[in-house]
Amino acid sequence: MRILVIGSGGREHAIAWRLVQSGHEVVGAPGNPGIEELGTRVPSTDYLAIAGEYNVDLTVVGPEAPLVAGVVDRFRAAGRPIVGPNQEQARLEGSKVFAKQFMEDAGIPTARAVHAATREDARRALDAFGYPLVIKADGLAAGKGVVVAEDRASAEAAIAALGDNLLLEEFLDGEEVSFIVLSDGRDFVSLEATQDHKRIGDGDTGPNTGGMGAYCDGRILPPSEAASICRAVIEPTIERTGFSGFLYAGLMMTSQGPKVLEFNVRLGDPETQPLMQHMNSDFGHLLWRAAHGQLAGAKIEWNPGASVCVVLAAAGYPGTPRAGDTITGIEDCGAVVFQAGTSRTARGLTTSGGRVLGVTASGETLPSAIDNAYAAVHRIHFDGLQFRRDIGRKGLKRW
Ligand code: AMP
Ligand code: GLY
Repeated sequence: MRILVIGSGGREHAIAWRLVQSGHEVVGAPGNPGIEELGTRVPSTDYLAIAGEYNVDLTVVGPEAPLVAGVVDRFRAAGRPIVGPNQEQARLEGSKVFAKQFMEDAGIPTARAVHAATREDARRALDAFGYPLVIKADGLAAGKGVVVAEDRASAEAAIAALGDNLLLEEFLDGEEVSFIVLSDGRDFVSLEATQDHKRIGDGDTGPNTGGMGAYCDGRILPPSEAASICRAVIEPTIERTGFSGFLYAGLMMTSQGPKVLEFNVRLGDPETQPLMQHMNSDFGHLLWRAAHGQLAGAKIEWNPGASVCVVLAAAGYPGTPRAGDTITGIEDCGAVVFQAGTSRTARGLTTSGGRVLGVTASGETLPSAIDNAYAAVHRIHFDGLQFRRDIGRKGLKRW
């Protein structure tokens, strides 16, 4: 098949890589220099026109913004097969206030929260909570609209910075798990659970980011736990909304069981990078089945062992990243390097975004996958490079 991959980050590079591995042809829009090496890059966002011009068989959407803007509705109206939720379903990610209300109505376990329509309401509501307290902006914020406030002064600063229309939410303690399924609107198939590393610093310290690394190894969730998450979270959501595409439940594994921190309506970034490397099925065929309502009975095969992705971020991230630093050492680093914030220039490959590269390696065990990923990281260089040194470490206790 010829498949249009919408997006321009590391997640989309990984999707394109997996599709090409399975013998499909890829068109990437707007794409990035990594995707360009695998197929055709069309640096435009006129997706429906591109799908027609390149006569693609299928389209898959990486990021949330086009989904929230209704790209799936437009493709379906034009009779073009596409994998993703429609605009209404995408509100599960597009509005945290809507998603919280949905979970409360559906009885899906989640953190207790109050909605504050204005900053003044938010300030007044502070008295009802202890600390740490989680403060979330309603709309899309690329992983940066959430502040964990340790005390009242930082809560007030967060409220001032995030604006009106906030959720104040009880802090949940535990390990975070990303649980993603692919749905055709009725039937779904689960992906292996992954763990992301949201904070910039080792040991989960510092501000939240889009994600500094992720791994999967088939041991993050026992099958019985995955099945109960499907029953409590995934099935009611698909039944109530007819959701199709990738449904991502960001879970906190609390002492009272798993609770939903957020829904995303797409694959995770960087979770997709290790997932694509660890998968041993024809991803294009799965996407085709999802787009055509034919996922009943689908299974995904996974390689043994583990895959680990370490994100290399630019100086300044998660604040304003510095651009223009020259990247060296990718070609013979010994891992698969998925590109995100990169540009191809006369000086070679340079940084042009916050998260620059996703260095992704596998191993027969999680410890060996971690070693392989970091051995490759140490062969890559750009000025100001930042990365976490503890990606995957939480999983070691299960090995
Ligand atoms: P979200 O975009 O809602 O997933 O929030 C981003 C990150 O903030 C999550 O991945 C968690 O690390 C953290 N977070 C969000 N909500 C909570 C919560 N209620 N308790 C603890 N941490 C949270
Ligand atoms: N890695 C978190 C996300 O994709 O939202």
